[in-house]
Amino acid sequence: MRLVVLGGGGFRVPLVYGALLTDRGEGRVDEVVLYDTDPARSAAIARVLADQAAADPAAAPRVRVATDLDAALHGADFVFSAIRVGGLAGRAADERVALAEGVLGQETVGAGGIAYGLRTLPVVDHIARRVAAVAPDAWFINFTNPAGLVTEAMSRHLGDRVIGICDSPVGLGRRVARVLGVDPGSAEVDYVGLNHLGWLRGLRVDGRDVLPDLFASTALLEGFEEGRLFGADWLRSLGCVPNEYLHYYYFNRETVRAYREAALTRGAFLHRQQDRFYARVGDPAVPALTTWNAVRAEREATYMAENREAAGAGERDEASLTASGGYEEVALALMRAIARDERTTLVLNVRNRAALPGLDADAVIETPCRVDAAGAHPIPADPLPGHALGLVTTVKAVEREVIAAADGASRARAVKAFALHPLVDSVSVARRLVAGYTEVHPGLGYLR
Ligand code: G6P
Ligand code: MN
Repeated sequence: MRLVVLGGGGFRVPLVYGALLTDRGEGRVDEVVLYDTDPARSAAIARVLADQAAADPAAAPRVRVATDLDAALHGADFVFSAIRVGGLAGRAADERVALAEGVLGQETVGAGGIAYGLRTLPVVDHIARRVAAVAPDAWFINFTNPAGLVTEAMSRHLGDRVIGICDSPVGLGRRVARVLGVDPGSAEVDYVGLNHLGWLRGLRVDGRDVLPDLFASTALLEGFEEGRLFGADWLRSLGCVPNEYLHYYYFNRETVRAYREAALTRGAFLHRQQDRFYARVGDPAVPALTTWNAVRAEREATYMAENREAAGAGERDEASLTASGGYEEVALALMRAIARDERTTLVLNVRNRAALPGLDADAVIETPCRVDAAGAHPIPADPLPGHALGLVTTVKAVEREVIAAADGASRARAVKAFALHPLVDSVSVARRLVAGYTEVHPGLGYLR
């Protein structure tokens, strides 16, 4: 079984490889191809993987590095995509341009997410076409953010063979299960929305919904990450638990202010941190895995620091860190279900078909799916309440403007995408954002 990783030099690739190392079953992945446009980065990550494999090299999947896309894709059973078009310098620029206009520049939400999407779509469109031509039977697992938008754009070439994943819904379900003292493994989540725009509405254990127990206790409500971020009162008003990324919507002024006041934005912080990491690990005298682990711990401890700052939510606790969904676990469970028909239920980004009322069949949504050898099948979901459906349909309309802008290389459609986003408050701001982004990103030069 061959897994091809696009963005094979990416920082989180060792997480995926680590998950593969735990899999000893018949039919497991035994070959990993790291494809990256920057060979120095794949070489650095290959060193980390070699350290990971050192405990039992004979059982570890072989690792090969590739720089030609078609050659890398040839013979793939699974393709993972974790590319970052424009790199972390691009992410930091997305934040800066947005903040200069007083709006949010986060890589997946609001103006920043649109800018990142506009840069990424031409690249993933090309990749999807190459996969359809060179490896038409492969399953494509997309991690690349903005994950919902990218998955929907690719689904036009790859149909239901492209599946988007994110660890935040699993992480949320686990954190709520833990605070309630139930086994996260046996809890079924009622979670639905778009990527980074969904709500946990129920948590079923042995047929009973235990979420009302959470709402009955303020201590429990404020005993986990999302609870501290949103506060017990707001969660009670909503009657459900939003994905952490909804903090950017429900507390928009506060998060924009915290981002503006931060010494470094998230993108700028990671840019500096990661540059140092890749420079160090290029040196054969430096222990690759130990260094990677330390950098990863720092990255996780500082995750959403500005939001926690704005909410007065304090540091991330140990339980939140260890209950982070484990994106590598989702990826592994998904591959096992498809390759070996090990049936399971996972929250994934797939085309809606008729699962969520109010969205059309081709809209990619994030929802629990039954997964088997035939792929991921979204489970019919209860309708969203009006306020949530309103956000979801608006943001989906924005995503489609982004796709149309990329398809038609249209600057006017790009302006429309920014202007229609609920976190961009004026058409004039949208125009200035397009001007600002096209100035700093060579990758947006295609817009006419
Ligand atoms: C969460 C999100 C991902 C994101 C990751 C890392 O897991 O769901 O979409 O890529 O955090 O965020 P960071 O700010 O560290 O890049
Ligand atoms: Mn995510």
